[in-house]
Order: sequence, then structure tokens, then C-alpha cells
Amino acid sequence: MKIILAYSGGLDTSVAIVWLKEKYDAEIVGFCSDVGQGEDLEAARKKALRTGAVSCHVLDQRDEFVRDFVFPAVRAGAVYEGEYYLGTALARPCIARGMMEVAAREGATAIAHGSTGKGNDQIRFELGAYWFNPSIKIIAPWREWDFKSRSELIAFAAAKNIPVEATADKPYSIDRNLLHTSYEGGVLEDPDAEPPAEMFQRTVDPRRAPEIPREVSIGFEKGTPVSVDGAALGPAALLTELNTLAGEHGVGRADVVEDRFVGMKSRGVYETPGGTLLHKAHRAVASLTMDREAMRLRDTLSVEYATLAYRGFWFSPEREALQKLVDAVNEPVTGTARLRLYKGSATLIGRSSPRSLYRNDIVTFEDDRGAYDQKDAGGFIRLHALRLRTGAMVAKAK
Ligand code: ARG
Repeated sequence: MKIILAYSGGLDTSVAIVWLKEKYDAEIVGFCSDVGQGEDLEAARKKALRTGAVSCHVLDQRDEFVRDFVFPAVRAGAVYEGEYYLGTALARPCIARGMMEVAAREGATAIAHGSTGKGNDQIRFELGAYWFNPSIKIIAPWREWDFKSRSELIAFAAAKNIPVEATADKPYSIDRNLLHTSYEGGVLEDPDAEPPAEMFQRTVDPRRAPEIPREVSIGFEKGTPVSVDGAALGPAALLTELNTLAGEHGVGRADVVEDRFVGMKSRGVYETPGGTLLHKAHRAVASLTMDREAMRLRDTLSVEYATLAYRGFWFSPEREALQKLVDAVNEPVTGTARLRLYKGSATLIGRSSPRSLYRNDIVTFEDDRGAYDQKDAGGFIRLHALRLRTGAMVAKAK
């Protein structure tokens, strides 16, 4: 049997190589996806080989992650439970897709991943994998092996000569990609404990951010981000640039308690610097260009879309159908939004569009020269009131 293992280079997945090989008498092929986590994946590849993998693929998925997962979610206005920009939830199906391409090329009949049995990530990986190959066998070592703690993994690694980096205490469970860095566990398990200042990796403390604000403009075409300060950029480069700017000004932190799909509440802290700007800027351009009822419809569906993405149903008929609607209403969303970044805040300071529906001749407080007839409003209100007045009269007669 040949198993493709989603490999990070860390302790869990290194132990998994040896454990899978023994338990399933299998050939292990590593798969490292680059979604912008900023780790040395060439070193991870070598480590996989040293640990016993027969080969290890490194796939640069940065552009496809941003183009096919992050930007569609921005067009949808997808934010889970009002706070979470879905950084991990969007990366997992991307990684699953890359992994299943490798599985097909390698003729592997099984895949494995290092997610625990408690979280959302196992669901996202596995639903994604089944979408591309309904008969794939999926192995989740964390749901099978008897290791209960990190120290047991370290002991096993020592016994099996698995290279382990200086075992610096891992205070948090961290997941990092181009859209966000997430932190869970450790001291964060007390939802009333403030995150330690030194935990944050990609945003400065807003209280220590520069005194001088930075203005930034983001250009959109059909709802998709295409430029920063007038310069056209590809998907990964654009998000990288916004991450730098927002991070320098302490923009994009969120501290949330969220509902995992398996039924428990969990506390997570997120840094989503560029993504926070994208969502804000997108809404600003949409406010000028999107039809009122189209926007209202999209907004009622945003929650549904975010829930699907969060729960691992990215690859599903319902998400694909929603995406078609979302992309259709984004057709006119072309234009530019300007934001001012200052000590943790991103304040909208302007928006413009060649397709703007904003008509100053209609809305003006000055003389509108007949663009709008105020007399029309009387009948408009009377008709809307008709059923309310009818109801009130009946209630009074009783
Ligand atoms: N709670 C977030 C989510 O479910 C982040 C998960 C981070 N994953 C991790 N393995 N640390 O999307």
C-alpha cells in the first residue's frame, strides 16, 4: 500500500511516517503544501526522507490558495460567527486538493494527515479528499494511535531515531498561512486570560504602532482584489503586501470563542492583517456598485457560506451554487477603496468606481433640478402603510 501523508516537518507528522509504515506495512510519500506558512519546506522534505518516507512532494500553492479560496470568500463577505476570517478553514481544502493531485499521480490508495480527532481540520481534509476520490482510504493517526501527549510522541521519536528539533516547549497550537496565523491552546484555554503580548507573530502591538498613519488604496475588478496603491499584483503578492502594511500598524487581531463543528466551543486568537483590509475595502466598493437587493441577498447568504466553509463543505454542490450567485452579484464591483491604517485600526476614508450607482444629482440636499420628485414619497409611504393601518384598525375595533 502507498500512503500520501500531509507532512509539515513537525513532531506529529514525523512520528506518523514511522508509525504508518509499521502499522500498515506501507510506503509513505510525503506531501508538503506551501500556502505561505513561511517555513523551510525544502528542509521538511529532506527530513521526511531521513525519517523514512520514500519520497516527498513540495507544492507551491500560494497563488491558488489566494485566488481560488481567499478571494472567493472575500467576494462572499464570509466571516464566521462575526469575527473569524476563516484562514485555516480556507487553506485545508486547498491543501486537500493539492494532496489528491499527488495521490492520483502516485497511484496511492490512501492518504493520512496529522489533525486530531477533536477539531475541524480533520473534517475539512477528509471531505475534500472524498470529493476528489470517493474511494480513497483515509488514515488519521491521532484517532488511532495510543499516544496521549506530546511527551509520549517525543519518547517514541527518541526510541525510533526520528530527528526531533530541540524540544522547545510548544506553548500554542499554531496554524499559519498567507491569510492568517491562528493560536489555540496553552494559556489561551482560559477564555478570560488576555493573550500574552509576545505571542503575536505578524502584527505589532497597536499601542506600539507608528505615530504616523499609512494610507493604502485597494483596487477591485468584479469583486476580486487586483491592485495596491495603483500597482497591479498577482494574488499571493497582493495579499503579502497588504499583510506587511497592516501588520506594521497592528491591524487584524481578533480574539474569539467559536463553535467547532464537532460541538465544542474553543478559544482562538487570530492575526489576519491583509484579510481584514480586503473585507473592509471590498464592502466599500460594493456599497457604491452593488444593487441594493443583490447586496441584501448576498448578505443573508454570507453567514451560510461562512458556515459551509468553516465546517469543511468547501467542495460541495451548495458552496459551488452559492459561489455562482456571489460571483454574479460581484460583476459590477469594480473600483477602489482607500483606508487609513493607524494603531490597530483601518478606517475607510474614500471609495470610487467607474460603475458607481451613487448619484449626487439624486441624493443632494441642494436643488436637484427635478431628478427626484418629493411628492412621490407620500404615495410610497401610504402604500407601505396600508397593511399596517389595516391591522391597527382591526386591533382597535376589537
Ligand atoms: N479554530 C480555527 C479553525 O477551526 C483554527 C484551527 C487551527 N488549526 C490548528 N491545527 N491549529 O479554523
